[in-house]
Amino acid sequence: MLQKKIKIGNLTTENNFFLAPLAGFSDFAMREICLEYGAGLTFTEMVSCKGILYDNENTKDLLCTSPREKIKCAQIFGNDPEIMRRAIESEYLSGFDVIDINFGCPMPKIYNNGEGSALLANPSLAEKIVYECSKTGKPITCKMRIGITDGKFVTEDFVKAIQNGGAKMITVHGRTRDKIYAGEPNYGEIAKAKKVASVPIIANGGIFTKQDAEVMIKRTGADGVMIARGALERPWIFAELLGNNISVDKKILINGHIDRLLTKYDDKTVAIIFRKQLCLYLKGEKNSAELKQKLFTYKDTASIKNELERFFK
Ligand SMILES: Cc1cc2nc3c(=O)[nH]c(=O)nc-3n(C[C@H](O)[C@H](O)[C@H](O)COP(=O)(O)O)c2cc1C
Repeated sequence: MLQKKIKIGNLTTENNFFLAPLAGFSDFAMREICLEYGAGLTFTEMVSCKGILYDNENTKDLLCTSPREKIKCAQIFGNDPEIMRRAIESEYLSGFDVIDINFGCPMPKIYNNGEGSALLANPSLAEKIVYECSKTGKPITCKMRIGITDGKFVTEDFVKAIQNGGAKMITVHGRTRDKIYAGEPNYGEIAKAKKVASVPIIANGGIFTKQDAEVMIKRTGADGVMIARGALERPWIFAELLGNNISVDKKILINGHIDRLLTKYDDKTVAIIFRKQLCLYLKGEKNSAELKQKLFTYKDTASIKNELERFFK
């Protein structure tokens, strides 16, 4: 596995294996866990620039960071260059070292608003956004898809545009918007991005094992990989990529995850918000369907922990 450091402007990451921004999942606790397993960089989930400027409480919560993050990256979305620059200049984002711009979100609510992946159809506006955001002095990175509709790829032109705007690193999710998260990533398009780019290219899509990551780097020439769903199910994938021998005790991992969340939220909130992540941790465990049903009725973390104690005996 080709391990190397990545330069983002004046900053240098520990390695080239990154945790993706994941709405509803890549909060401070998940980012801490992935960093402890060795992730080279992590990102907050996408936050709305308008939400930031309108002082939305929920947005503030999403931007909670951990001291473990040596380089703090927030991902933002929007479509108005000035509003986006002002959001970066606001106190909400002042503690972040890197700002990543979302040019990939496929969800109708975002897309129909001309944000996320909709901007793939408007490279000149995307360039303006990156240019305006770069005026803040913070390194701006971008995460893009390879097009909106399969077969109609925009990769090279879009990479050139955002690079021209000042992007310091570009993550390419090798799928079009209409594929959402399904199917094999298009290695050829990511390879094209790498050919036209002068900044680091990080490849994303369909990496669930070390072998997937090796294939991705080999076939695209990308400088690094970004892992999303694979890391939610198996955050220790970063240790595997680094060749670090670890033994994973799921019960300890889950209990530790709950304890991290309890430093920020009250017990009932944790019991409820942790359910979807718990489901992913239990994926593949024998007889876990019944367990999940039971766990989902609990509204306190002690009951969840007791149930897991019995399950993992
Ligand atoms: C539940 C979920 C939430 C996501 N949230 C974001 C997000 O906030 N920002 C973003 O750029 N991509 C987001 N993505 C896309 C992932 O970062 C990634 O590009 C995609 O899942 C492909 O990678 P994978 O095949 O490793 O999962 C999300 C994906 C999922 C499944």
